[in-house]
Amino acid sequence: MFKGIQIQNEPQYNARVTEIAEEQLGNGEVEVNIEYSTLNYKDALAITGKGKIIREFPMTPGIDFAGKVFRSQSDDFVSGDSVILNGFGVGERFPGGLAQKARVPADFLIKQPSEFSSKEAMMLGTAGYTAMLCVLALQKQGVTPDKGEILVTGGNGGVGSVAIMLLSKLGYQVIASTGRPEEKAFLQSLGAVDIIERSELSEPGRPMVRERWAGVIDSVGSHTLANACAATQYGGTVAACGLAQGMDLNMTVAPFILRGVKLIGIDSVMRPIEDRKEAWKALGSLVDKQLLASLSTVVALSSSVDLAEQLLAGKVRGRLVVDVNT
Ligand SMILES: NC(=O)c1ccc[n+]([C@@H]2O[C@H](COP(=O)([O-])OP(=O)(O)OC[C@H]3O[C@@H](n4cnc5c(N)ncnc54)[C@H](OP(=O)(O)O)[C@@H]3O)[C@@H](O)[C@H]2O)c1
Repeated sequence: MFKGIQIQNEPQYNARVTEIAEEQLGNGEVEVNIEYSTLNYKDALAITGKGKIIREFPMTPGIDFAGKVFRSQSDDFVSGDSVILNGFGVGERFPGGLAQKARVPADFLIKQPSEFSSKEAMMLGTAGYTAMLCVLALQKQGVTPDKGEILVTGGNGGVGSVAIMLLSKLGYQVIASTGRPEEKAFLQSLGAVDIIERSELSEPGRPMVRERWAGVIDSVGSHTLANACAATQYGGTVAACGLAQGMDLNMTVAPFILRGVKLIGIDSVMRPIEDRKEAWKALGSLVDKQLLASLSTVVALSSSVDLAEQLLAGKVRGRLVVDVNT
């Protein structure tokens, strides 16, 4: 038996920390003693049942984890290897990281970058790795720091806060949009040069407005994404990865056909392994560990269920790292 969160849908949808039998581990060649997992937006949707994330019950949530291999039938991993996992349906269709153990296919795993401890790797977690994929997307589209300001929406969130930190380290001028202007000093400590209020972007707006952003990293979707595109400079790039405001997108094609704006979708879940390695390597060279610690809070497995509601209510700042052994 090992400890973990289990989600049941009978007699009604509920999530609780419980003892889980080894037989309920998933299928795969590699067994991992998990050290840290995290609470991402998707985990919070799964735990609260506010999003249709879990399809099979009972299920252990947790879309990412870091830990040590203790049994392996794969040539790629041996007992004692430090590994990380992001996505691939783990914590959705396959038992996930909010538990002390996992069994997964070898090709879901990558070796933990040597720059990070397991705790630091999960301070980044899926949100941080996704932020890096977004930054790489802007770079690959030629958005260089001299081109102008970069907008990061959902600034206090996991993706947003890491994106600010990474962009600032690379020399970009970052403007963070946030519904929590009282966190301005925190956002500036991560490297934002200024903030704008979330409400400036969250209502329906005009098809195109004054060109401002050279690039955008958006984890919010809905009208915010539409307004971000409407104010993106000629030839600029918008990397869209989230839906914290909504999944809808009601806008015109004007920014695309009149200004050549590029809207790049970012998926981290099924991302090919080479892209993951590229993103984690870049994180290894860019992340300031002191800043990373300043945007992270380590919490116990037992408190994750309650924190899920707070995360969805937009009350969590930065990243929540879950110590699955407490
Ligand atoms: N595509 C992928 O593979 C991928 C990977 C990771 C995450 N995501 C998605 O990215 C989004 C962010 O994930 P996360 O883990 O960073 O979540 P998070 O930590 O909860 O951050 C979301 C942030 O968005 C802002 N926000 C919340 N509600 C909002 C609303 N109604 N309108 C506008 N802004 C709002 C808040 O920032 P402020 O208080 O500063 O405004 C909040 O902190 C989620 O939708 C998640 O599913 C996608």
